[in-house]
Amino acid sequence: MEFFNTNLPTIAWFIYLFSAFLFIQGLRLMNSPRTARKGNFVSIAGMSIAFALALFESSYKGFELTSAAIVLIAGIAIGAAFGFVTAKKVKMTAMPQLVSIFNTVGGGAAALVAINDALNGGAHQEVYVFITIILGIIIGSVTFTGSLIAAGKLQGIVSGSPIKVPLKKLIDLICIAGIIFCSYMLISGNYFGYGIEMPVILLTALSLIMGITFVLPIGGADMPVVISILNACTGTAVAMAGFVINNLIMIVAGALVGAAGGILSKLMAEAMNRSLFNILAGGFGDTGEVSADGGAALNLVETSADDVAVQMAYAARVIIVPGYGLAVAGAQHEIADLTKILEGKGVEVIFAIHPVAGRMPGHMNVLLAEANVSYEKLIPLEDVNPMFSTADVALVVGANDVTNPAARRQGTPISGMPILDVDAAKNVVVVKRGRGKGYAGIENELYGLPHTKMLYGDAKKAVASIISAIKEL
Ligand code: TAP
Repeated sequence: MEFFNTNLPTIAWFIYLFSAFLFIQGLRLMNSPRTARKGNFVSIAGMSIAFALALFESSYKGFELTSAAIVLIAGIAIGAAFGFVTAKKVKMTAMPQLVSIFNTVGGGAAALVAINDALNGGAHQEVYVFITIILGIIIGSVTFTGSLIAAGKLQGIVSGSPIKVPLKKLIDLICIAGIIFCSYMLISGNYFGYGIEMPVILLTALSLIMGITFVLPIGGADMPVVISILNACTGTAVAMAGFVINNLIMIVAGALVGAAGGILSKLMAEAMNRSLFNILAGGFGDTGEVSADGGAALNLVETSADDVAVQMAYAARVIIVPGYGLAVAGAQHEIADLTKILEGKGVEVIFAIHPVAGRMPGHMNVLLAEANVSYEKLIPLEDVNPMFSTADVALVVGANDVTNPAARRQGTPISGMPILDVDAAKNVVVVKRGRGKGYAGIENELYGLPHTKMLYGDAKKAVASIISAIKEL
């Protein structure tokens, strides 16, 4: 017992290190859809160990069942119940806004930890600790309001179009100047006759305003990238909070989320051939109704489920190109059924997966995995592109921008974006509801090509009608 008492901090340090190892191992397993589920469980195990240790440490230090403990336990219970129910119930298409709400909570919690430390131990802190506290308040507060607005935009509660904030530059300038001044007050300990509460409250308020003015002007369609950036900010704020309360696991977990979120944002921006700066400056959703074909009307030719059924049933190779519309319609199970029926007739069916098809990273992989489509059939962009010329039919289901040949030309909003070479297939069938544009808001030249036919309708119903027609052949 004596040994345990004197060595508790060292033992705790090693246990936290083991938890951190489990986080990293979990992330590594998430590299592949086959091991991703296991990765989640490994990370959950790491978090549970760290959490249990934190509780043990606080009770060991004489933490009694006071009102603080009741608030803590009630908070954990409410948070866990909310997290469990929402994660179970949320639709796949609403996942980005759920992540954003979680970012709101994470950023807010990190800011509260920093505010608490500033108010309660503040004046006696070392300068470097104070800098960490200040950064925690700023990043946590910006993330709090920014993520809330981002979730609101995606949910349609706040308008998805870029909202111009009147006098934005002036407001930003005042906020930045105020934040610098409050930081100076906190570090120097000179509160100009007021208490420490004044600079802390002001710093928090100005950072909250900055979160709003930062996200409002960005178009709703760019929100997934913004959410990923804010996710990175949440991680950084949590790491800052870890420094403040001297908690190793918060520093490690926060740094992992910060780094992973940063890398993901960069990858998403690259797959859209846009710079992070361009997205944050609020450019893309703002391009309006630009016509990629220079305004010329496309000659769209309609087809029927019966004709598509014949084409597909007698094909040697079919490539299915899923996109955002598949997710909206929830047509993944119908697509899986169609695949089985075609394979039963000796047709080879593969899926062309574009890295930013849908509205979140891995959106199509997750949807198709949900319908038990084998992972081997999902071929990434660079591998599938040379295969299109050997496909008898390319069936595009609710995909638009990721198939638009306009990306190969200069001067369009998607110029330079890597696309799926669907136009190289012998026949192209596009399933969509009507003349709705994609995320970039431009016409798709693929739809007007002579070998492309349009099958109009909701993806779920349209694919079901193809299945019925094949069964009747
Ligand atoms: P989009 O270009 O957004 O096109 C989706 C198409 O689906 C629309 O043209 C729409 O046409 C159709 N659609 C909608 N609901 C449908 C339904 N119920 N049934 C059938 N069709 C339906 O999708 P995409 O090709 O997947 O491209 C994704 C875009 O999102 C890219 O521009 C990408 O840069 C952007 N983006 C992606 C991400 C990530 S990480 N995936 C993040 C940010 C932005 P109708 O209205 O006529 O049906």
